[in-house]
Amino acid sequence: MAPTEEEIRAGQAIYAPLSLRFYDLLVHGISNHWIWRCPTHEIVRLYDRNVSARHVDMGVGTGYFLAHAHWPAASPQVTLVDLNPHCLARAAARIAHLAPQSVKTNVLAPWPRIESSPFTSAGLCYLLHCLPGSIPQKGIVFDHLAPHLSPGARVFGATILGRNVEMNAAARRLMATYNAKGVFSNRDDTETDLVAALEARFDDVDVRRHGVVALFEASAR
Ligand SMILES: C[S@@+](CC[C@H](N)C(=O)[O-])C[C@H]1O[C@@H](n2cnc3c(N)ncnc32)[C@H](O)[C@@H]1O
Repeated sequence: MAPTEEEIRAGQAIYAPLSLRFYDLLVHGISNHWIWRCPTHEIVRLYDRNVSARHVDMGVGTGYFLAHAHWPAASPQVTLVDLNPHCLARAAARIAHLAPQSVKTNVLAPWPRIESSPFTSAGLCYLLHCLPGSIPQKGIVFDHLAPHLSPGARVFGATILGRNVEMNAAARRLMATYNAKGVFSNRDDTETDLVAALEARFDDVDVRRHGVVALFEASAR
């Protein structure tokens, strides 16, 4: 069943100007280390390994990883894709020195024409667990992304899994609360489904788990 407008809205509505002020501290300062058990530096390293001179980032939040990445070019061309205008504005301001292009769109739907496409890298960090549906349904995000990638482009990201992972008490509580509110929709998300969704579309798929977080990397065909 296709996700409803309400489910799609709930996956991004929490990111308002006030909550975005505390996002980095709560998520990348506290939750990653103590609740999801994936140290933030592992995700920074994921970005460092994969970002390129023509990068698109999907589900940008505050732009934390874009601001911390070591870019392989002095002036990388960065495109921000998000449904939430507050996230786009905050991330764009954070990396204003890179003059990013912003595209407001729902990643579950086909993208509008994007002038900076095709891209040589695409980051999807902590996006998939916010999207309604199961991982096989969320795979449509990769279908919409694929036509905007050059052959061999790096596709990478991180997502919090909800099933077949060991959670501590805090993770169980937070996961239940977020899923009840629709902030997360990851109760049934498994590493196996993620690997299958990536292998169906990309080459060189590598998925590693840190705590309840799956870090993934792949290459466009
Ligand atoms: C948990 S935040 C991740 C932010 C950032 N990537 C990070 O790791 O810090 C999820 C982001 O995905 C965006 N988002 C959620 N649902 C979306 C959708 N259907 N289409 C586009 N963006 C969406 C939210 O607005 C938010 O910016």
